[in-house]
Amino acid sequence: MHHSAPDNPLYLRFLQGRQDQPPIHKWHHYFEVYHQAFAPFRGRPVTMLEIGVQRGGSLRMWQDYLGPQARIFGMDIDPATEAHGLPGAKVFVGDQADPDFLRAALAEMGPPDIVLDDGGHTARQQINTFDVLYPAMRLPGAYLIEDTHTAFWGGPFADDPQGRSIYDVAFGVCQRLHEWTGRVGSMDRLGIPPAERGPGDAVSELCRTTESVSFFDSMILFRRGERAEPWHEVR
Ligand SMILES: C[S@@+](CC[C@H](N)C(=O)[O-])C[C@H]1O[C@@H](n2cnc3c(N)ncnc32)[C@H](O)[C@@H]1O
Repeated sequence: MHHSAPDNPLYLRFLQGRQDQPPIHKWHHYFEVYHQAFAPFRGRPVTMLEIGVQRGGSLRMWQDYLGPQARIFGMDIDPATEAHGLPGAKVFVGDQADPDFLRAALAEMGPPDIVLDDGGHTARQQINTFDVLYPAMRLPGAYLIEDTHTAFWGGPFADDPQGRSIYDVAFGVCQRLHEWTGRVGSMDRLGIPPAERGPGDAVSELCRTTESVSFFDSMILFRRGERAEPWHEVR
C-alpha cells in the first residue's frame, strides 16, 4: 500500500531527498495528483507559478520535474523568499489576496500554464488568487490548490467577507461546466450532429474553457482546455 505510486518520478525524488537542496514539506498522497495534473507539461516551454515558496525546495523540484525549458515563478509574502528565485524567473513578493499585486505579477510573467496555490491557505487568499489567475491562464492549463482541508478548520481560515470557502467557488465552476447539458430540453439539440446544428445559446467563457474540476483529499484540480458543445448518440 503506497500513498503515491513508487514509480512516480516526482514521488521518487521526494522520497530520496536531495542533500544539496532545501527540504520540502508535502503530504505523500499529493504526488499522485501532481503527476497526473502536470505530466502533460513536462519537457515543454511552459510557465508555472507556485504560490508559497518558503525554503525554495519545491520551486527546484518543479524545475527538475518539468525540465529546463520551463520557467518556474514563485510568489510569497515573505521578502526572504526572493532569494530563492530561479534563473529566467523570479519570486514575486506580496500578498496573494491582493488582486492588484496578482495582476502586476501576471503582466510581468505572462499567462501561466500551471498554477499551484500552496500559499497561506485562507479562504480569501485562495478565492482572490483563483478569481484573478484562473481566467488569465493559457490553454491547456492546470490550476491546483492544495491543503484545502483548511476550509473545514474554519477559524482564521474562514476569512472571506462573503463567508464563502474555496469549495463554494469550485462548485460554482462545476455548475458552469454544465451550462450546455444542464439546460432543460438540451438533450434534443445535443443529439444532433454538431455540423448540422444551428448556432446555439451562448455559454460562459468558464464553461467553454474548463475541462474538469476534480476533488481529492485536501486538493482541488481545475483543468483548462477548449471544449466543444457536447454530443450524444446511439450507435
Ligand atoms: C506551506 S508554505 C510553502 C511550502 C513550499 N511550497 C514547499 O512545498 O516547500 C506556505 C508559504 O506561503 C506563504 N504565505 C502565507 N501567506 C501568504 C500570502 N498572503 N501571500 C503569499 N504568500 C503567503 C508563507 O510565507 C509560506 O512561505
